[in-house]
Amino acid sequence: MKRNKVYDCSIIELPRIIERSGNITPVEPNNTIPFGIERIYYLYDVPGGAERGGHAHKELQQLIVAASGSFSVVLDDGMQKRIIELNRPYFGLHIVPGIWRELINFSSGAVCLVLASLRYDEVDYIRDYGYFKEFFDKKINQVPHL
Ligand code: TYD
Repeated sequence: MKRNKVYDCSIIELPRIIERSGNITPVEPNNTIPFGIERIYYLYDVPGGAERGGHAHKELQQLIVAASGSFSVVLDDGMQKRIIELNRPYFGLHIVPGIWRELINFSSGAVCLVLASLRYDEVDYIRDYGYFKEFFDKKINQVPHL
């Protein structure tokens, strides 16, 4: 198993249908999204100054979109950090497994839309930062040397 890095996470541009009366971004299972979508959820009514996230996932992949407003995502692979501001509903941030993430700086009225590769399962979460660093180091060391 390869340890994912913050630079394995990427911005994906979603399609846009632009009309004078408003725009549409359709998301369909196709080559644009690098995983099958099993769940959709969205975060809203986030109070000023609140921070979300603060965990990593063992297997889950996500595409995070600022469907309205803006917020920043702090990505951390245990070695390097990367901060990405999302502020357009046609850009999604693809987060690979094994990345600690924090969502900060929510604008008022922001909506964080998340497309997820798996159904909700608390077992997939790592919520302790010390354990996160240990967990993925252990996984790497389990790979047999050929
Ligand atoms: P969590 O993923 O920790 O939120 P965030 O990363 O936005 O801070 O989830 C918060 C709570 O909601 C937690 O008790 C689990 C629950 N939850 C579900 O029941 N189903 C879901 O699909 C999600 C995302 C969370």
